[in-house]
Amino acid sequence: MVAARITVNGKETPLAPAAPHTTVLDFLRERGLTGTKEGCAEGECGACSVLVARPGVHRPTDWVAVNACLVPAAALDGQELITSEGLATAGRPGTAPTLHPVQEEMAVRGGSQCGYCTPGFVCSMAAEYYRPDRRASAEPAQGVADGTDTAAGHRDGDGTDHEHGPNGFDLHALSGNLCRCTGYRPIRDAAFAVGTPLAEDPLARRREQSPPAPVATDYVRDDSAFLRRNTLAETLRLLRERPDAVVVAGSTDWGVEVNIRSRRAGCVVAVDRLPELRELRVESDHIEIGAALTLTEIERRLDGGVPLLADLFPQFASRLIRNGATLGGNLGTGSPIGDSPPVLLALEASLVLADADGEREVALADYFTGYRQSVRRPDELIRAVRVPLPLSPVTAFHKIAKRRFDDISSVAAAFALDIEDGIVRRARIGLGGVAATPIRALATETALEGRPWAAETVEAAAEVLRAEGTPMNDHRASADYRSAMLGQSLLKTFAQTTEAVSA
Ligand SMILES: Cc1cc2nc3c(=O)[nH]c(=O)nc-3n(C[C@H](O)[C@H](O)[C@H](O)COP(=O)(O)OP(=O)(O)OC[C@H]3O[C@@H](n4cnc5c(N)ncnc54)[C@H](O)[C@@H]3O)c2cc1C
Ligand code: FES
Ligand code: FES
Repeated sequence: MVAARITVNGKETPLAPAAPHTTVLDFLRERGLTGTKEGCAEGECGACSVLVARPGVHRPTDWVAVNACLVPAAALDGQELITSEGLATAGRPGTAPTLHPVQEEMAVRGGSQCGYCTPGFVCSMAAEYYRPDRRASAEPAQGVADGTDTAAGHRDGDGTDHEHGPNGFDLHALSGNLCRCTGYRPIRDAAFAVGTPLAEDPLARRREQSPPAPVATDYVRDDSAFLRRNTLAETLRLLRERPDAVVVAGSTDWGVEVNIRSRRAGCVVAVDRLPELRELRVESDHIEIGAALTLTEIERRLDGGVPLLADLFPQFASRLIRNGATLGGNLGTGSPIGDSPPVLLALEASLVLADADGEREVALADYFTGYRQSVRRPDELIRAVRVPLPLSPVTAFHKIAKRRFDDISSVAAAFALDIEDGIVRRARIGLGGVAATPIRALATETALEGRPWAAETVEAAAEVLRAEGTPMNDHRASADYRSAMLGQSLLKTFAQTTEAVSA
């Protein structure tokens, strides 16, 4: 087996002597690449963002920006990575190292003052600069052209779309980057001014070739190991041999545990590149979504095909986090405030669990058994999430958090309703943040089913919904507020959907 190494700015860089838990951020800085900064070490500020070559959605390779503070360096064994230093030589080939076009726009438009956040901003900006369908997406998101404000974008009555530039730049590409001194307008000006990559730009050309294949990794130092196998079967055998192993995919939860809670694992097993966990298939009666696809990949590949998921993604963390985060990780942690469970409960999804002996399918409604507990055994992996078809035509997802974007839910509620001839034939409602586990709002579903989709029914059902679960008081919200928000989320759904139903 070849010694673990990462191609950093075109140069093969051995992983040793880094410890298996060493983050990409520390790995880079210890090798003198100090452009990549540490702000928070928990995925909140984006000062550490770097670009990695990943399987592309529209081309063989996408340059994807991720939080270097969360990803273990060993997870990038055999992979290619570009830092802000590497961008400087890439954007204008044939010249001496000089500013990349995104760096230049940031400089000339005053997008950098103390400069601490700038390398992270330029990496996120470069990922969007190289996004192959950037121009195509310059059109406003559906539903915003009438002046409504959605998670996907904001368009004024005069037709101005504040969240997409004339160059198709989606400002949400920068949603995981914070700046404490510049003010965001010059940064937005820079983003909206970047042009199209030159044909001879090596990073633009790199997109036309396959990304580096995942490589099997046995990176062991002292008493800890980072292991990656090529197939699901090998990985499941390994998990049976190592019941102490911590499974990681995008590492957006695990990285926080390592950095902030100083957790260390004797054995980490990576599952994020297993082909069996990265398929997305549409069958006649269900959609199967691989547990290790990133949320960005699912979002772009489904392209709005599951509207409830399309509502969820923009409200889930930042683009930087969604570039790593997976459904397997969101369900695997069993958090009662994870955002995907309410949505997947409303969709009546099931999980395909795999171990070395085979597979079983478990309804998500039967999966969680207690606070951060589930029916999944330590040697089992979530291989895929199955969403049954057809989808309910009327759906809504409401996430109540202190900030509109990039925040953890206080409460989340997802609705999937079949309404025929003005009668609710079927209601499925998933809730997060109101009990030790994500739950279905069964009493509210009963209060709606068979009744007219009318103000009287909805007001009565909202009262039932306020009493679902056992909400707690904590630093995010009081129990009373959580209950009140549940009721409001149904009333809001009614207000938003009445027009759609009567149409
Ligand atoms: C800044 C920040 C913002 C965030 N915002 C949100 C948010 O808005 N909403 C939200 O819900 N979450 C949020 N999160 C939490 C996190 O991003 C999600 O839970 C994410 O989906 C985790 O996926 P991952 O692949 O990174 O998990 P990892 O960190 O790789 O794994 C977490 C755990 O999941 C388990 N696991 C992973 N894959 C599998 C699998 N295939 N089978 C079985 N078990 C598995 C393992 O036990 C592992 O230890 C945020 C995190 C950060 C750092
Ligand atoms: S250091 Fe803040 S996101 Fe990584
Ligand atoms: S320029 Fe100082 S933090 Fe952004």
